[in-house]
Amino acid sequence: MGKTILITGGAGFIGSHVVRLFVNKYPSYNIINLDKLTYAGNLANLKDIENKPNYKFIKADICDFPTILNIFKDNNIEGVLHLAAESHVDRSIKDPFTFASTNVLGTLSLLQAAKECWKDDFSGKMFYHISTDEVYGALQFDNTLFTENTKYDPHSPYSASKASSDHFVRAFHDTYSLPIIITNCSNNYGPYQFPEKLIPLFINNIRNKKPLPVYGKGENVRDWLYVEDHARAIDIVFHKGKVGETYNIGGFNEWSNIDLIKVIIKTVDKLLGNKEGESDNLITYVTDRAGHDLRYAIDATKLEKELGWRPSLQFEEGIEKTVKWYLDNQQWMDNVTSGEYEKYYENMYSNR
Ligand code: NAD
Ligand code: DAU
Repeated sequence: MGKTILITGGAGFIGSHVVRLFVNKYPSYNIINLDKLTYAGNLANLKDIENKPNYKFIKADICDFPTILNIFKDNNIEGVLHLAAESHVDRSIKDPFTFASTNVLGTLSLLQAAKECWKDDFSGKMFYHISTDEVYGALQFDNTLFTENTKYDPHSPYSASKASSDHFVRAFHDTYSLPIIITNCSNNYGPYQFPEKLIPLFINNIRNKKPLPVYGKGENVRDWLYVEDHARAIDIVFHKGKVGETYNIGGFNEWSNIDLIKVIIKTVDKLLGNKEGESDNLITYVTDRAGHDLRYAIDATKLEKELGWRPSLQFEEGIEKTVKWYLDNQQWMDNVTSGEYEKYYENMYSNR
């Protein structure tokens, strides 16, 4: 029997790409996808691999410690890739409690279960926590980048909850010697992202000729990475990373929101056969996000130097591929925006 790896949040955006990569690349591993199936979890993201013999889905809440502990005991888990989280900044502003609960207490519950089950023999075990660059706060418009040594300075309830979870993960390493690794990644884009996030939301709105709500002046800067490049980095770090270390993951690819939005409009118009500039008038400046971080930018040199990872996809190629995927998969988008995706799995997994 091969290793059993628990991937949390595998029905979400990044998690589904990580599950797919691990299931396909490591047939000898048993991959367990544990997910609560919140609004962000969609098992349709994994249709192509759901019947593979090395894949199993468990519907559970990471905050439910007794259940999590039993899952660890029953399945002889040796590795954890922890992605389950509440991930949307705007939702965290409206409902910080859910973020504290899932991101902080949920992470703690997984750490505690891992510690209890592994404490007699930590060899071959790994608790890998997937985190965000937002824990570092905001940069000015200069040449500075977030490194692994940048002081934590979270501003939103989302980033505060992720920062707190990172601290708990390190505390379990320092206090109990739990073998851990943390990565902090920049903005991901690609297929299967929930259309509350900028890129899929705007692609869908352009297609439906709906307004594109640009927060503030659209000057905020983000570093964008194609999601499969992130999944590939996670694979490399999980197998080759050094216990106790943090690695930053990023695209070396900064865009102001407004410039990025113009690229999205141009690409969607081109692929839909619209006249160039046809959708420009959909841009609508709206009230800024509260506490909106000005700029994020990651220095991923450590990961490149120590483990040989670099993003493989050029942004122009990645964005065209992404727009094409959403336009070609309109049914996926319609099922998500109508809420149909939740009904589909209702009978299979009750108590959604
Ligand atoms: P997502 O919102 O698309 O998916 C989150 C998944 O977690 C969903 O399937 C959801 O059902 C599940 N989940 C939520 N609460 C749960 C709970 N209590 N118990 C079990 N499962 C639960 O998120 P994403 O964008 O794929 O992000 C995945 C991880 O990567 C998160 O930890 C996020 O902080 C981190 N991250 C995301 C980005 C990004 O750009 N999206 C960048 C860096 C880091
Ligand atoms: O940096 C990593 C983070 O990237 C992850 O940790 C988060 O989980 C992920 O959601 C993402 O956070 P952002 O807040 O940067 O992503 P979002 O897509 O929500 O917004 C991207 C930028 O676009 C941000 O500056 C806000 C702006 N925006 C967003 C939306 C949804 C708009 O101007 N209009 C919008 O409608």
